[in-house]
Amino acid sequence: AAPLRVLGIESSCDETGVALVELPEGVAGAAAPRLLAHALHSQIDMHQAYGGVVPELASRDHIRRVVPLLRETLAGAGLGLEAVDVVAHTRGPGLAGALLVGTGAACALAMALDRPVLGVHHLEGHLLSPFLSVDPPEFPFVALLVSGGHTQLMRVDGVGRYALLGETIDDAAGEAFDKSAKMLGLGYPGGPALARLAEQGHPQAYRLPRPLLRGDLLDFSFAGLKTAVWTQLAKIDAGEDTAGDGHAQERADLAASTQAAIVEVLVAKSLLALKQTGLKRLVVAGGVGANRQLRADLDAQCRRRGVRVHYPELHLCTDNGAMIALAAAMRLQSGQAEARRQYDFDVRPR
Ligand code: KG4
Ligand code: ZN
Repeated sequence: AAPLRVLGIESSCDETGVALVELPEGVAGAAAPRLLAHALHSQIDMHQAYGGVVPELASRDHIRRVVPLLRETLAGAGLGLEAVDVVAHTRGPGLAGALLVGTGAACALAMALDRPVLGVHHLEGHLLSPFLSVDPPEFPFVALLVSGGHTQLMRVDGVGRYALLGETIDDAAGEAFDKSAKMLGLGYPGGPALARLAEQGHPQAYRLPRPLLRGDLLDFSFAGLKTAVWTQLAKIDAGEDTAGDGHAQERADLAASTQAAIVEVLVAKSLLALKQTGLKRLVVAGGVGANRQLRADLDAQCRRRGVRVHYPELHLCTDNGAMIALAAAMRLQSGQAEARRQYDFDVRPR
């Protein structure tokens, strides 16, 4: 069968991503999807000055970037526009105005090319992103989805066959990283910055809460941690600055202790989900999945239990177009979705 090429456009938050994924034998073939090319632009520098994502600036920047990134992707694949068979886009969740840019671009492009379109759930993109790694997982598996907006544990039996096992009842894990980092004056996005500072600190220096750690529940709660970090930081700042360095060591210690608290809960709940389902495979996806401490602890704990852990390639942990093109391709291949020549569109911010 002829190959099928899916163009994916991601614009749900602060990165614009475009990618081309190929099903080498078409939808009917069993051959695994291949990433032909992808291009990404992060708006981090632009939002940094504001300490967080400014929705209108995000939308306007997606508009500026989407066509150049499309050109870059096609050039990277050595293909022309007519090589695109299906156009996929992130339909939600995310910022409404930002989603409209990628969705509008996808529908306009598909209409002009007379190709079908397919809207993809952003989290399904994250969830399936490890299938683009050199060592893709096999179904079924437990998935730990940890991003800036979501923290979920899922049982995944196949494409489109997802059962929610537990999720956060308040803040997401990425949010806990970001908010703690902001209090420590580390700017945006806080996750990577806090992780860097944590390398200089002692993870046991401060006792911070691990909410919902005990018991059989697979739900998470991170709101209390934020308050504890705030209280601890106030104590540190009120103390005498004997070294004259603005309490640098204490701040690093607090960063390390915060990371340790978040990671410990994520690891414990993942192990509990594996135990409850009896599954021996874990997939970790979403931005927080890039965290080194999380990876090291999960790897060590899972090795002892004979569990294989799969991660997306590091550069595909945070938002990108490749995971959107991939999710669309895998949905089409598994018969879980149909792309349509229907160009009136809407988005699903929540
Ligand atoms: O998946 P993602 O790119 O966007 C959402 O869909 O939310 O995740 C972004 C989140 C942010 O909260 C960011 O701080 C966090 O992932 N993050 C990290 C790391 N890299 C990104 N958190 C901890 N350690 C990291 N190395
Ligand atoms: Zn995301």
